[in-house]
Amino acid sequence: MTGAAGASGRSRASTVPALRARKVAAGAEPLVMVTAYDAPGARMVDDAGVDVILVGDSLAMVVLGHDDTLHVTVDDLAHHTAAVARSRPRALVVADMPWLSYHRSPADTVANAGTLVRAGAGAVKLEGGRRRLPMVEALVAAEIPVMGHLGLTPQSVHVMGGYKVQGRKADDAAGLVDDALALVDAGVFAIVVEGVPADLGARLTEAVPVPTVGIGAGPHCDGQVLVLHDLLGLGEGPPPRFVRRYASLRDDGVRAVAAFAADVRSGAFPSAQESYGPGGAG
Ligand code: KIV
Repeated sequence: MTGAAGASGRSRASTVPALRARKVAAGAEPLVMVTAYDAPGARMVDDAGVDVILVGDSLAMVVLGHDDTLHVTVDDLAHHTAAVARSRPRALVVADMPWLSYHRSPADTVANAGTLVRAGAGAVKLEGGRRRLPMVEALVAAEIPVMGHLGLTPQSVHVMGGYKVQGRKADDAAGLVDDALALVDAGVFAIVVEGVPADLGARLTEAVPVPTVGIGAGPHCDGQVLVLHDLLGLGEGPPPRFVRRYASLRDDGVRAVAAFAADVRSGAFPSAQESYGPGGAG
């Protein structure tokens, strides 16, 4: 039993059927999803007791330094999914399908998702509503569990004209509810709802029988997801409104490395205790 996972009482692996049933209105505990992109990050979030580790295409921005999520490929996601899976987490590992990996044809979509499953994912996530139904159905028919993603879908940044809250107009909100219901009919086991007003987050959550996982979608979703680097305070500059920072690891890191540099320059590091003795002693 590891760390806080034991303290949270979560002792068995997260499975898709168990997660699919996690509706707060039915008495379930809210679902917790956090991103990770490598083995130490995955061990950290798994030891903290999360339900789902998302190997998000946010990889492009928070790890690889790109300005948007459009710059990662299936091979990039597979590389990082494999690193996460090697930590053998209890949490379900969900891999994001990158832009253009599920837009061409159902067959191409299944082949790309298969690469992510073989890398260690237990499910995949893809963005979009009714226009993605043939792809979702093909994945489900191939026994690959699918998590949907609606609202502010970052891969549509150019179409949306920036990262803007979605569903503020009545027609757009109704369209998102129709998208959510269609995704459920196609077989998704959960839906990420990103960047919508809190009342729409509540409406979507009430409308579907699978859990909604919110990010910038208010408190009424069946769970919440944050990007690991955001919640640990590893980013630069002020975080977006929907982020709560639980640590300031970037500041701590700068301080620690500056202290190391000062010790090296002053000769204080390494000390005798940090050095080996002669002839095999110490
Ligand atoms: O890529 C990602 O990290 C995501 C979350 C923001 C939901 O899709």
